[in-house]
Amino acid sequence: MSASSGSAGTPTTIDALLQETRRFPPPPQFAANANVRDPSVYQRAHDDPDGFWSEAASRLDWYKRWDRVLEWDAPWAKWFVGGQLNASYNCVDRHNATWRRNKAAIIFEGEPGDTRVLTYHDLYREVNKFASVLLDLGVRKGDVVAFYMPMIPELPIGLLACARIGAPHTVIFGGFSAEALRDRINDSKAKLCVTADGGWRRGNVVPLKDTTDSAVADASTIEHVLVIQRVGPQAKEVSMREGRDVWYHEAAAATSRSFVEPEHLDSEHPLYIMYTSGTTGKPKGQQHTTAGYLVGTSLSHDWIFDLKEDDVYWCTADIGWVTGHSYIVYGPLANGSSVVMYEGSPDYPDKDRFWALIEKYGVTILYTAPTSIRTFMRWGDEYPARRDLSSLRLLGTVGEPINPEAWIWYHEHIGHGRCPIVDTWWQTETGMIMITPLPGIVATKPGSATRPFPGIEADILDEAGESVPNNRGGNLVIRRPWPAMSRTIFGDPDRYIATYWSKYPGIYLTGDGARRDDDGYYWLLGRVDDVLNVSGHRIGTMEIESALVSHPAVAEAAVIGASDPITGQAVVAFVTPRGGFAPNDALTAELKEQVVHNIGALARPKKIYFTTELPKTRSAKIMRRLLRDIAEGRVLGDTTTLLDPTIVSQIKEQYESTEG
Ligand code: WTA
Repeated sequence: MSASSGSAGTPTTIDALLQETRRFPPPPQFAANANVRDPSVYQRAHDDPDGFWSEAASRLDWYKRWDRVLEWDAPWAKWFVGGQLNASYNCVDRHNATWRRNKAAIIFEGEPGDTRVLTYHDLYREVNKFASVLLDLGVRKGDVVAFYMPMIPELPIGLLACARIGAPHTVIFGGFSAEALRDRINDSKAKLCVTADGGWRRGNVVPLKDTTDSAVADASTIEHVLVIQRVGPQAKEVSMREGRDVWYHEAAAATSRSFVEPEHLDSEHPLYIMYTSGTTGKPKGQQHTTAGYLVGTSLSHDWIFDLKEDDVYWCTADIGWVTGHSYIVYGPLANGSSVVMYEGSPDYPDKDRFWALIEKYGVTILYTAPTSIRTFMRWGDEYPARRDLSSLRLLGTVGEPINPEAWIWYHEHIGHGRCPIVDTWWQTETGMIMITPLPGIVATKPGSATRPFPGIEADILDEAGESVPNNRGGNLVIRRPWPAMSRTIFGDPDRYIATYWSKYPGIYLTGDGARRDDDGYYWLLGRVDDVLNVSGHRIGTMEIESALVSHPAVAEAAVIGASDPITGQAVVAFVTPRGGFAPNDALTAELKEQVVHNIGALARPKKIYFTTELPKTRSAKIMRRLLRDIAEGRVLGDTTTLLDPTIVSQIKEQYESTEG
């Protein structure tokens, strides 16, 4: 297969090499009861997108119905123009007004094993109280509130309280440093920062308040710091600055209102800002608004997770990321679901904690990340085998391409062959899941996110903007606006245009490579920035990595293209072995052969390095750019936003010692 070439002789598409032929149709019993059973939904949404989204919007309660579904002046979108609603009302009050008032909304387990179950009525009471405290602290409609929190119920409660009074929130993941927190507070001009005296992580207390103190020392917009007591006496004494810092439990005891009227907000009222993670450049504050976001997340959550009234739904993401915003807080609560929330680490006190939680709460739907699945594979099959996982009926993944072998492991060891898997592709920018199976009607293929969600018009383009033929890779784009899309980069509209809307005017550029097969299924190939160029062939990272992960000795792999005088770039692989396998020359040779066998000689790795961990962002995505820097001898840029910065120096030392 040869790459098609542009005028300058550089290939304009990406080669697609990996063949995966396994297919998993929906189990008949599942299909018979699925929320979406009629495949004509795709065609209907395609033919009349306004009608489709308008119908979806009637899932919500409105103070005033919209006049127009969409106003599109590319790249500026307004959805449900003229409508008025409140996200907090839709996630809380309207359920509290029905039998659901006694249904579990949040089932929380702390890392030490403490538990709290909040019914929708409890949530209603707590959200009102929190909103009242916000008002007491002078927070008003339009003021930005920052959250730097552990995964405890006060986080979703606080977000819903903000939404209630129309104060946009910005959550900064609790693993970020003081500098990262300060930069995001300053960029968003937040007035209040909500934090806790600590949170539990692997048996230790994370000192969130100390970090907040360092951050807000250089954040002039902050008027108050509101502190939740999570850890109590076991936390190192936190210092409270007179006049600035307020204990939440004291403010809540002193506040007078037990009800705060939800603001009647315009459809396009800003709901939140979410900073995209990255290791270079200023973080981009994605601005999401109220109506379109809530319509998109609630519909997609219902259809993709096939939500039933009695489901126990668990998304293991942190609310510090968009996945937590869309699929722990807004989508599920708008739908009145019971949501499990876990504070801590998956290996505390032992490596079966996730499976213990599923057994304990009878979790029926599990949504997690490929990086976690690969970690579980590395830990070994015995941990999930210890626990009763028979309550599960549907599994999901998000965050990175899932390698087919990890998919199969998830299917067998967690789903016991019984549960459909929804591999969901989306981004902080898209707000909602965009490419995914609908589990009752779409047969899955391991490694493919399958089809665009109804109403989503995806395509794959070459450099000239032409759709590429089937089975060729190119740039994944979205051709039409969708309701949950980011409206701009907060404070920097020019960057929004330059990053997403200038390569193909009027078309949204995702930055991911993908190919489409003869069934119209999408296969994500990795970030376009990471694509390799070997002897004139552009190859995505995903396929070579999947060939490596399909070897029984390999848990995880990252490949990069390192400059090579002969081939332009040479394939270099970094590999993490599974428990019980020791790296040696024979294994190296076997892995090279495996890639040649699965993909072809052109993808044969020139070098393979074994490492105990790969460098990852704090949202656990593999950072291939840093591996390229190491391989090409560049000075390493800022690594403080990494999950574990020491990993990079370890790999660098190892690399340099073998390269001489
Ligand atoms: C990657 C997370 C392949 C992709 C919701 C995207 C995926 C980036 C998948 C967004 C998937 C996410 N298959 N790749 N199912 N899901 N990605 O903003 O590269 O943290 O552009 O949003 O993750 O990451 P973000």
